[in-house]
Amino acid sequence: MYWFCVCVAFALFATLVSTRAVPRAFPGLNTTLLSLVRDNAVNSSTQSWEIGTLAEALTEVEWPRLSVFLPGSVLPPLILPWWESADDVLTIAETVVDQRANGSLPLADGLGSVGDPASLGQAVLLRNWTRRDLTDTRFSTAAGEQLGYLLSVAPRADSGAISHRDDQVQLWADFVYMVPPFIAYFGVLQNDDYGGLALLQVAYDQIRLYRDALFDADASLWRHVTLGSWEDSGHWTTGNGWAAAGAMRVLATIKRSRFASEMQSQQNDLVQWIDEILTGVWYYQQSNGTLLNYVDQPGSFADSASTALLAATTLRYSVLTSVTKHDAAALRALELVFSSVDEDGWLLNTVNPEAWTTLTQNGTHSAEAQSFVLLLAAAWAVY
Ligand SMILES: *[C@@H]1O[C@H](CO)[C@@H](O)[C@H](O)[C@H]1NC(C)=O
Ligand SMILES: *[C@@H]1O[C@H](CO)[C@@H](O)[C@H](O)[C@H]1NC(C)=O
Ligand SMILES: *[C@@H]1O[C@H](CO)[C@@H](O)[C@H](O)[C@H]1NC(C)=O
Ligand SMILES: *[C@@H]1O[C@H](CO)[C@@H](O)[C@H](O)[C@H]1NC(C)=O
Ligand SMILES: *[C@@H]1O[C@H](CO)[C@@H](O)[C@H](O)[C@H]1NC(C)=O
Ligand SMILES: *[C@@H]1O[C@H](CO)[C@@H](O)[C@H](O)[C@H]1NC(C)=O
Repeated sequence: MYWFCVCVAFALFATLVSTRAVPRAFPGLNTTLLSLVRDNAVNSSTQSWEIGTLAEALTEVEWPRLSVFLPGSVLPPLILPWWESADDVLTIAETVVDQRANGSLPLADGLGSVGDPASLGQAVLLRNWTRRDLTDTRFSTAAGEQLGYLLSVAPRADSGAISHRDDQVQLWADFVYMVPPFIAYFGVLQNDDYGGLALLQVAYDQIRLYRDALFDADASLWRHVTLGSWEDSGHWTTGNGWAAAGAMRVLATIKRSRFASEMQSQQNDLVQWIDEILTGVWYYQQSNGTLLNYVDQPGSFADSASTALLAATTLRYSVLTSVTKHDAAALRALELVFSSVDEDGWLLNTVNPEAWTTLTQNGTHSAEAQSFVLLLAAAWAVY
């Protein structure tokens, strides 16, 4: 009996500890290389959306039970055990809130972007929820002010879509990853059922309004940017990735919340909206597994970054819905992505996220692409 108990205790301990390590080896990407990818992601992320995406990627790959994707309740534990400290994610939240300019409602300087700083919000909400010092209201206040800015201050289109830019009304596909997942997560953490449900509905509505503005039904793809002083009506692949991946996080957040049964039709819509993007992009997959930077433009260059984000989203989609029709494409993409990581842990052949019609050049790398590899590794680990 004694040895039985010791064995059970040890097995339980090993299971708990193993949630920290990356669970299994990856084709072409062993855990040593994956940790270099991670360190490069941490070291190279400087912009608000890069750090927000990094915080999400670290959560998914290192602390999967704290992400919105694992089965069970989406609510994190109030007290994090030492083996699941999420220290790197929570440090990001602390740094963000410590460095927030006095009087700023957004969590960070978005350099003209409304949406980007909100990508930091989920980490700040986790830091608040799991704080040891219950008198410390800094994180709750900061998250609340970020939400208030989005809902009441930021400019909006006539449709009600919150602008992605602060100086004019302009809608970018990128917004769908930056804002709705934060609003949805804020909603599920509310004690007040009425307010929580309303916020989940806002997250859903913003995706619906963005789709109304950006989805091209004939191509089954999203355009990149509409309204405002200039537009990008091309089907930028990373934009399609941001839209699908953001919708995926909101879908998972609703599905794992206490509001799931009340929001069945919204979940059905999100499934359809993710599926149509996956159908659109994988139709244009190249024979070696990559996607082009503008997915349906034959002259466009191969972009491993968007390929990684869409592969990650497809594996999440498959696990959550049991719809497997896109899996083969995602697995081809996964091989291409993992074989495009160099020996120093940098993903090669990535679009320059700040000049998105060109490749990264001259030995520079894409920070968001590093996080996309982590998202793909995390999705593959539970696939
Ligand atoms: C991991 O992969 C890299 C690159 O393929 C290789 O150089 C390294 O030896 C591998 N490490 C282990 C522990 O297998
Ligand atoms: C990241 O930066 C730290 C300190 O700046 C450095 O010690 C570390 O080697 C860097 N890691 C990588 C993978 O470049
Ligand atoms: C905010 O203002 C306080 C008091 O004036 C000051 O001590 C602090 O450094 C300021 N913080 C930032 C981030 O500017
Ligand atoms: C912060 O955490 C407390 C629980 O300790 C919770 O009641 C509160 O709603 C949280 N704030 C936000 C904005 O989620
Ligand atoms: C894959 O194929 C595309 C064209 O179809 C090509 O541009 C690219 O260089 C190939 N290799 C990689 C690693 O993307
Ligand atoms: C890359 O380096 C070359 C030579 O130094 C320079 O001419 C070019 O402008 C650089 N390109 C970028 C995108 O920085």
